[in-house]
Amino acid sequence: MKVRHLIDPCDLTVKEVEELIKLANLLEKSPDKYNSCCQNKILATLFFEPSTRTRLSFESAMHRLGGSAIGFADGNSSSGAKGESISDTIRTVSCYADIIAMRHPKEGSAYVAADVSEVPFINAGDGGHYHPTQTLTDLLTIYNMKNKLDNLVIGFCGDLKFGRTVHSLVKAMARYKNISFIFISPPELIIPDYLKKEVLEKSNIKYYESTSLESEIPKLDILYMTRVQKERFFNESDYIRLKDTYILDSEKLTLAKGDLSIMHPLPRVNEISPEVDSDPRAAYFMQARYGVYIRMALIIKLLGIKEDLC
Ligand code: NCD
Repeated sequence: MKVRHLIDPCDLTVKEVEELIKLANLLEKSPDKYNSCCQNKILATLFFEPSTRTRLSFESAMHRLGGSAIGFADGNSSSGAKGESISDTIRTVSCYADIIAMRHPKEGSAYVAADVSEVPFINAGDGGHYHPTQTLTDLLTIYNMKNKLDNLVIGFCGDLKFGRTVHSLVKAMARYKNISFIFISPPELIIPDYLKKEVLEKSNIKYYESTSLESEIPKLDILYMTRVQKERFFNESDYIRLKDTYILDSEKLTLAKGDLSIMHPLPRVNEISPEVDSDPRAAYFMQARYGVYIRMALIIKLLGIKEDLC
């Protein structure tokens, strides 16, 4: 059997995503049925960048399936700090684990890793490029809230230049019918050109860019807020100038639809005021919770485990 990897959000077909969403919902409903699906299987989580949700939800997912997890949460504690290449690290870890999830600050690192991995390899974020498992989490959240993945107006707000969760979700959502996007950001943090030209314009997706959250919020079915990513700036003064451009609070939400869904991949800094957490439209902690079930489903799929044998 050919080893399957997940690097780009579109490495899975629309049908496969649908199957994963269905399985994730079954896993949430009947976790006990699947608690030994991955017995004797090992997941390696190799994180060269900070993470709370992605790494821990991967490890939690593997434990809940009866498997175990090894890895590191800081590249400085791996041989990467001695100058080892990504390829050599992955070749080695392929001997120790049945499946690997890696986060790395360099765009494209996931391709290098998957190229040499002898076991399924999952991109858990490669710099400002893609973050396909956050996208699966987001798709599960949208599906469960809206009961559909088409006919939606989605607003992305914040750091659209470096936000890999945005890039991945735009690419994945562009495959569904009648989706339109509103990109709300300061001019310095607009969505990259390659997404506009190679994804949106090629698929005739309706979109426009704006700098005002207040004027766009009434039109949205989903508002996807993002953090301005300090670690991706070359210049601290630019970060300080831009970091609080958008702050979602209860007052701005009075302008929004009653059935708006507010999403955020987390971590948040100031961009969503804590008072919003008790608004029934806030979906971001539910999103974090769904991250476990969709990663359980993904592990089962990439390991080729037959669900009916679980
Ligand atoms: C995001 C990431 O790491 O890209 N977080 C996540 O994985 N849930 C977003 C961010 O760090 O701002």
